[in-house]
Amino acid sequence: MRIDVVTLFPDFIRDSAALGVVGRAQERGLLSVHGWNPRDYATDNYRRVDDRPFGGGPGMVMLAEPLSACLAAARAADPAPARVIYLSPQGERLTQAKVRELAARPRLILLCGRYEGLDERFIAREVDEELSIGDYVLSGGELAAAVVIDAVGRLQEGALNHADSAVQDSFEDGLLDCPHFTRSDLAGTEGVPPVLLSGDHAAIARWRRQQSLGRTWLRRPDLLARVTLGKADRALLEA
Ligand code: ADE
Repeated sequence: MRIDVVTLFPDFIRDSAALGVVGRAQERGLLSVHGWNPRDYATDNYRRVDDRPFGGGPGMVMLAEPLSACLAAARAADPAPARVIYLSPQGERLTQAKVRELAARPRLILLCGRYEGLDERFIAREVDEELSIGDYVLSGGELAAAVVIDAVGRLQEGALNHADSAVQDSFEDGLLDCPHFTRSDLAGTEGVPPVLLSGDHAAIARWRRQQSLGRTWLRRPDLLARVTLGKADRALLEA
């Protein structure tokens, strides 16, 4: 999969995409992330990428022309059809289901705004969808783009060392993840639920499912309302 990012800070995107699971996915050839700077496509002497908003008011708006030229260059870098996504607080909220959908595409182009955002005519003409990573305002779309790249990159086949770990993630089944424990030189097995030391895999799976259900019920009842629980799950919740 290929992800191109149109941003005034391409170094931030390249640097963050070189770390951890996403960096490894790039080294394994499963994903490639590229940065494009609209300032390189500005045509005036000052390399301007923004201007004052029509109607007045605070802040600046990103100019359509450098963005259009930059996006056209990014598109032309690869023949695969690209989904163009603008990261903005006005977008649809990102969920794990959306991440799965994006991860299955051959190519994404992510647009990062700064200042008050992008000229609306550019959005209407070029953007396929607008996505938000949450109900708060960042000073630019770069952190949101890094979130999308991480969430999508780790789902590329072969990116995670354990294929199962993506399936067992929080939200994959609409529930929160269960607690995890590992060896401790200082504490030994103190505080570790005995079932996890029992070697009884069916009992461990049942305990994990019960913990997931219980945590979701306590911390995110809104999620629980959206999943349909089977008979076995309802019995675990009531136990
Ligand atoms: N840009 C600024 N705030 C944002 C948010 N919450 N989500 C996505 N992009 C943003």
